Amino acid sequence: DQPRRWALRGDLLDFTAAPAWGEIEPSAVRFDRDHWLLVEDGRIVGRQAEAPDASWVRKDHAGQLVLPGFIDTHVHCPQLEVIASYGTELLDWLERYTFPAEAAFADPARSRAGAEVFLDALLASGTTSAVVFPTVHKVSAEALFEAAAARGMRLVTGKVLMDRHAPDGLRDDVAQAERDCIDLIDRFHGQGRLAYAVTVRFAPTSTPAQLAMAGALCRADASLYMQTHVAENRAEVDWVARLFPEARSYLDVYERAGLLHERAVLAHGIWLDAHDRILIADRGAQVAHCPSSNLFLGSGLFDWAGAAFNVSLASDVGGGTTLSLPRNMLDAYKVQALRGERLTAWTALHAATRGAAEALGLGDEIGGLSVGQAADLCVWDWARGPVAEARDAVAKALHERVFAWMALADERNLAACYVAGHRRA
Ligand code: GUN
Ligand code: ZN
Repeated sequence: DQPRRWALRGDLLDFTAAPAWGEIEPSAVRFDRDHWLLVEDGRIVGRQAEAPDASWVRKDHAGQLVLPGFIDTHVHCPQLEVIASYGTELLDWLERYTFPAEAAFADPARSRAGAEVFLDALLASGTTSAVVFPTVHKVSAEALFEAAAARGMRLVTGKVLMDRHAPDGLRDDVAQAERDCIDLIDRFHGQGRLAYAVTVRFAPTSTPAQLAMAGALCRADASLYMQTHVAENRAEVDWVARLFPEARSYLDVYERAGLLHERAVLAHGIWLDAHDRILIADRGAQVAHCPSSNLFLGSGLFDWAGAAFNVSLASDVGGGTTLSLPRNMLDAYKVQALRGERLTAWTALHAATRGAAEALGLGDEIGGLSVGQAADLCVWDWARGPVAEARDAVAKALHERVFAWMALADERNLAACYVAGHRRA
């Protein structure tokens, strides 16, 4: 379908470093209006002002915004169907909506269909890479790996570990879970663009023995990721304190189990203290900030401005109400506004592209539009509809224009999405 060599024209935007908090004109922003990206065998091989010669098939997106494909660092595949569920905070929401939806993924056919719908929905939102929670069922992780491989996507996932405080049909046990993890790691970790994450749902749903097993898996192979939730909701934090009285904090439960390392992705991190925040930085772990979810579930307001660790951006669907990362950026802006801070479009976009890529150890491959990187690209209408068009028409400085785009865009602005050079949306 796709030519081996092709060239894309548009307004190219990416980052060469992390923009400083609050800075409107950082040198880290690289904006090349009306330039060409040259793509060969799924990689970017050129970036230039001149049109390439006629041997290159041309895709003309002149007047549209070209960004690196977005990276959603925390999202739940089986929760697509419980998105926008009314009326509860985290712990009730899990019991009432989420666990029943996840139980259905015991069925392999349901897991496979769910994975395909989910990944296509990510691509339709401009998200080309993701760190994903499936369910406790081994087959749900297999289905995600297989569907991602079929689409050429960079995907990090792993079977969810949960051996207590969950309903029948959603619990594993330490020995079987360990066998399942090892088998999945052998078959999928490092295969093409797939990587395995040791996936502890959260401290309350794992016994200390299971947390120890998860830590041993991480220690045995430093190339594995780890994903979990931490300090999202105050009732959750209180529950963890009762379950693990020996731990200094919620985060310390993970530290004691050996789960905090450079490849750890911690969702939320709202109710952390100063010790915790230093520990995350020391371990080189990242927090996946989930603003749509935090507002929808009433969890709290994440302190991004004060973070000395890596912060990436995530939808956390079904707790979040949209897979669209621009819409999550707008929610992130509002969360910071409620804290008396202001989030630039640069910090927001960086967190969804280069920042996430670097924090995942994938900065050479994804998150940017440099020669040598994968041709994972999303192309956007700068404005869609009369209100956004009128706003765009009067924008003068670059940050003003990109910020208005970020605040007003959603998946309907997506003109095209490419994964490793192949058009996928
Ligand atoms: N904590 C434990 N499980 C979940 C989940 O599925 N979603 C969110 N937002 N928080 C969690
Ligand atoms: Zn989550």
